[in-house]
Amino acid sequence: MNNAELYEGNNNLQKRDALDCLEEFADKMMWKRSGDRIIDIGCGDGSVTVDLLKEFIPENFELLLGCDVSEKMVTFANVHHKNERTSFTVLDIAGRLPEELRSNFNHAFSFYTFHWIKDQEAAFNNMFDLLVEGGQCLLTLLGHNPVFDVYRILAESNKWGCWLHGVERFISPYHDSQYPEQEIRKLMKKIGFTDIVVTCQEKSFIYDSPEAVKKAVQAVNPFSMPKEVFDDFMIDYLNVVRDMNLIDEVNNNKPASVRSIYKLIVVFGTK
Ligand SMILES: C[S@@+](CC[C@H](N)C(=O)[O-])C[C@H]1O[C@@H](n2cnc3c(N)ncnc32)[C@H](O)[C@@H]1O
Repeated sequence: MNNAELYEGNNNLQKRDALDCLEEFADKMMWKRSGDRIIDIGCGDGSVTVDLLKEFIPENFELLLGCDVSEKMVTFANVHHKNERTSFTVLDIAGRLPEELRSNFNHAFSFYTFHWIKDQEAAFNNMFDLLVEGGQCLLTLLGHNPVFDVYRILAESNKWGCWLHGVERFISPYHDSQYPEQEIRKLMKKIGFTDIVVTCQEKSFIYDSPEAVKKAVQAVNPFSMPKEVFDDFMIDYLNVVRDMNLIDEVNNNKPASVRSIYKLIVVFGTK
């Protein structure tokens, strides 16, 4: 999950969902006349930050700061996207927040990142602390996703158990939740957020071939394995996906398309 080039070329699903969310909440965003300071938490390669998010913020913003726990991602984002008002820095949103970042941003965004974090309270608390009074946050994160079931099934097998050791670390804290919206709303209320909106939306995405799935899985694969092992892993991965009836085999000699149906949690709140 550290390979920025690979992620940049295989994040169509994440980009589509970030765009949907930005469009849905565009009217709720309260921008200043000038000088907005914006942070994008878990910016990855930086393409969502500059290609999508930047389109939604007023031109006269003061600072757009992308942050990510991965040094490699931050380096890539700085090399490709940095300019006078846009830059990228290493930050673990569940870790200790540097003093200079506290109460510093009018808006905090985060796309496809919070489901990687086990300590949800620390992450939401830090996001609150990053904001000025009246500051707003907007996030997407995964809830239930069959991908996590595939990981669990393979982790139980003798063949993949050792490669997928500690699999639960990489499963969304909301994968098994019946009412993730309620859990998140309760947590945000406790922290002090107001004007809270949390929805759990059913989404679907069609990959036009198993090869496209392979690249998308590889781009976010949290398990470290050599390439030849990963190729073998993906054969078994796709067999499990087939058993789950998610592969459309009837396709007139074209490669079979693969359906992904998952729950996306969208979160909005004000400090
Ligand atoms: C799937 S990528 C999303 C990138 C981008 N936001 C997008 O929508 O395309 C998730 C990113 O979250 C980062 N991440 C994971 N845990 C994090 C943490 N505790 N603090 C900050 N970033 C984190 C990962 O390094 C990765 O770059």
